[in-house]
Amino acid sequence: MKIDIFTLFPEWFGWFSEQRHITNLRASGSRIDCVNFREHTPLSAGQVDDMPFGGGAGMVLRVDVLDSALRARYGIDPVELRAGRRVIALAPGGRLLDDSLVDELAREEELTLLCGRYEGFDERIIEHFASDVVSIGRYVLSGGELAAMVLCDAVMRKLPGALGDERSAEEESFSAALEGNPEYPHYTRPAEYRGWPVPEVLLSGHHAKIESWRREQSRERAERLNQESAGR
Ligand code: 6GU
Repeated sequence: MKIDIFTLFPEWFGWFSEQRHITNLRASGSRIDCVNFREHTPLSAGQVDDMPFGGGAGMVLRVDVLDSALRARYGIDPVELRAGRRVIALAPGGRLLDDSLVDELAREEELTLLCGRYEGFDERIIEHFASDVVSIGRYVLSGGELAAMVLCDAVMRKLPGALGDERSAEEESFSAALEGNPEYPHYTRPAEYRGWPVPEVLLSGHHAKIESWRREQSRERAERLNQESAGR
């Protein structure tokens, strides 16, 4: 998987790229590359944004700046680019990132992520250059960078070789293996601590019973989550 991140803050990704599951993947050719689109602006003094037409607070990322940055990176008109690869604009109003979208993206060979700043993108960037708009939740971050990191983390840990144990990513929260439910609780030694025991069934060595207890716990958690979100 090769991920290109268009950002005004490439240095934010230095720390992230050195995390173990990302470095593990480098051996099999995966990469995260950053493009600072300020370096590609056709405007003077590194300008990348401008005041919104119609007035209002904040600044808007210019379509001509993203056009030249994408063109410099891929050597084609960015309008053609999204036919061949997912070009994902990160914005709070986009499609919510969930496990099934993560799975979908993990099947791609290459991704392009566009990180907005300020009030956001000129809408023509979304309309003509992006294939997707993705959000990580219904709240507003000061830029797309943290959302891009969340997306990269969630996608890359699904790839073979990212985790120490391949089974870690199979039966985990919200996976198909758990019918989209949250994960069951885990326990390790000591078997009793401050009078808090580990559930008996987990010590029984009875695999079928353990399995059904875990499914049950997972379903109960889903139900509780539903009640919590309905209660608001
Ligand atoms: Cl993708 N971007 C920004 N700026 N804020 C967000 C977000 C993205 N997802 C949730 N909040």
